[in-house]
Amino acid sequence: MNSYIESTSFFGNVSAEELATKYGTPLYVYNERILRNSMRTVSKLIQGYRYVANYSMKANSNLSILKIVNEEGLNADAMSEGEIRLLMKAGFSTDRIFFVPNNVSSQEMQFAIDNGILVSLDSLDQLERYGNLDRGGRCAIRINPGVGAGHHSKVVTAGKNTKFAISRDDIDEALEIAARHELTIVGINQHVGSLFMDPEPFLQAVSNLLSVAQRFGRLEFIDFGGGYGVPYHKLDNEQSFDFENFEVKFKALVDEFVSTVGYTPLFKTEPGRYVCCEGGVLLGRVHATKDNAGRKYAGTDIGMNVLARPAIYDAWHDIEVIRNSEIITDGDLEKVTLVGNICETGDIIADDRLLPKIKTEDLVCVLDAGAYGYSMSSNYNCRLRPAEVLITENGDDKLIRRRENYDDLFSSFEL
Ligand code: LLP
Repeated sequence: MNSYIESTSFFGNVSAEELATKYGTPLYVYNERILRNSMRTVSKLIQGYRYVANYSMKANSNLSILKIVNEEGLNADAMSEGEIRLLMKAGFSTDRIFFVPNNVSSQEMQFAIDNGILVSLDSLDQLERYGNLDRGGRCAIRINPGVGAGHHSKVVTAGKNTKFAISRDDIDEALEIAARHELTIVGINQHVGSLFMDPEPFLQAVSNLLSVAQRFGRLEFIDFGGGYGVPYHKLDNEQSFDFENFEVKFKALVDEFVSTVGYTPLFKTEPGRYVCCEGGVLLGRVHATKDNAGRKYAGTDIGMNVLARPAIYDAWHDIEVIRNSEIITDGDLEKVTLVGNICETGDIIADDRLLPKIKTEDLVCVLDAGAYGYSMSSNYNCRLRPAEVLITENGDDKLIRRRENYDDLFSSFEL
């Protein structure tokens, strides 16, 4: 069997067992070298034009990782006041933050305006609200390009069934609202959804957005959104997203647009998952195994509160099994259902999965956990959120977020 941990020397100079003993489990572990490589890939997504990648920080909002993103020269997008505040804390200047919210209050818009952060409005109603707050100001609008994509219907954010964006049929009305408030629409953005490996729907959306762009005057920027996939079945040799081939097709559309309109805006993308997914894993300890009605269960401390993706989207994450610091890559396999410690039957990490025979006290390592892992975790069942550790470029381990404690958990109660 393949091992991603081994082939990438993921844990650097330390072993999984040392990390688990030192920091406890469950534990998110990130590899700085892999993270930086992914950031560098998305930094050159469109070549030959003014281009910037906005890191979509909802995928992973650890402050140390945001600082690395900042060092690598990416800009960022934010979905909430909290995300804006954290980006500012990580050192992003406000002109490098793009606020792309959905259904926000005037207070939250005002926070962005007061800080000089550009806001994208994603409904006519929100555009009207923005106009009332910032007459004569600058803003962007989010357009539904009519084509969506994503690994699950719950993460497709364009096309027919979505709460996001302004439909192409409503652009005249959007322009009217903007004119009434003397707003300048300086940019347009889209986001088709999260995780595509086949670039075609995305490219169709790019083409649609570029034709819509011609209905605006000279735009300062056009932002194509995120969604670039990573191979979650890498142990079965699923290949990485083919950026080389993609870039050629992407650039051809952009070339055609530029020659038609006769000006060159800044082009942007908003990758989240691609930046941090493969650079993160989640370690957990097996505390019990059992057979129930012919099905073997391995019970770990990785509850759905720690990694929600399998429970919410039936998402697949590859699993490696580690015993006494050795990654088990040979020997007998058996079907096992890997579960957590939460009081829900759906608290499953891997359902009926063929894995090396698991014993109590083994460690399991959930791959591709760097995106939408910690950032979607919760305190359900009054469980503490785990610690996060970075394996630095020289291979050493560094704590970048401590495990929560019970004081944190109870700190907001008023009696
Ligand atoms: N831009 C906007 C406006 C977005 O809503 C998102 C993600 C992104 C960019 C980044 O997309 P990415 O490159 O990461 O695919 N929790 C789900 C994914 C939800 C994505 C939400 N929006 C999951 O775990 O699969």
